Amino acid sequence: MTIVKNTLFSPIQLGDLALANRIIMAPLTRNRAGAGNVPQDINVEYYRQRASAGLIISEGSQISACGIGYPGTPGIHSEAQIAGWKRVTDAVHEQGGRIFIQLWHTGRISHSSLQPGHILPVAPSALKAAGKTLTLEGMQKFETPHALTLDEMPSLVADYATAAQNAKVAGFDGVEIHAANGYLLDQFLRDSTNRREDAYGGAIENRMRLLLEIVEATLAIWGKHRVGVRLSPENSFNDIKDSQPQQTFNAVAKTLSNYPLAYLHVLEGDMLTGERQLDYLELRNSFAGYYMANNGYDKASGNAAIEQNRADLVAFGKLFIANPDLPERFLKNLPLNTPDQATFYGGDEKGYTDYPNSSI
Ligand code: PHB
Repeated sequence: MTIVKNTLFSPIQLGDLALANRIIMAPLTRNRAGAGNVPQDINVEYYRQRASAGLIISEGSQISACGIGYPGTPGIHSEAQIAGWKRVTDAVHEQGGRIFIQLWHTGRISHSSLQPGHILPVAPSALKAAGKTLTLEGMQKFETPHALTLDEMPSLVADYATAAQNAKVAGFDGVEIHAANGYLLDQFLRDSTNRREDAYGGAIENRMRLLLEIVEATLAIWGKHRVGVRLSPENSFNDIKDSQPQQTFNAVAKTLSNYPLAYLHVLEGDMLTGERQLDYLELRNSFAGYYMANNGYDKASGNAAIEQNRADLVAFGKLFIANPDLPERFLKNLPLNTPDQATFYGGDEKGYTDYPNSSI
């Protein structure tokens, strides 16, 4: 008997959702939402162009007005935002594509000038992030956040549930919970930012409590294999770290195995330094479901990860920014466009919807 190995081009089922390939479009902040943080025409066109991905994971989209961290990021909490996203999901589905929305709350990586009523951003503990952040008034220093109180937790979980419900109305195929990259849920998971002494702090069982409550609340709305989770165990972006990243995230992956998730999505290594110290195979083997690898993969390394069973799916970020038809280019070994860093964040069509397809 010949054993046929899977590649990036092998179809895969997320429960009853069929993906045409394992080439996933990573969530990418592009800061081009319209007024009211509503997806607009250029956003529809951008996602439509990339519908040949096995699955698109949308850019991070704030679950509530307080979840916002940067200008121009879309939300999924107002009627207008739901209607804007519905145009995006319709366009992707018309092309035969699949799309999840990434549910985002930035926590302390925000600024009072972006918050409703100019209140302070929230976090597990009142610890200020080092450095400055982009606001509507230019770069400003991070502020000491408001430490969430125990009685504020249920409404936060309810905001995730409402956003998950809104995502259903907007026609998405599922949701990804953003628990990575130094944003709110990661601030709870890692011990440099979580110094709580209550049921949400201390041992990792407590630090993952909020994430698990949100997983349960969103699964109750979406059902099995329609909820993914994104983690970044050793990413130092946004001034965060854990004292025992391998143990911490092995434990998170093992506990998440108790839920019928679509996948576990892992940003491997450190976005800022490129260092990669954890054993990601150990993490992958701690999780019972599909593992989506991300960060710096190309066609060769992505195929190798799948063929060697180190990943089931591979998410590509910068390559999808520059190559709307990335699966076709990979399949036919066509040359790749070069991503232009200067147009990653904010702006108009330039560097967004004007990267050429290989056929033109
Ligand atoms: C970014 O703006 O560079 C960014 C946003 C969200 C992430 C990671 C990076 O999860």
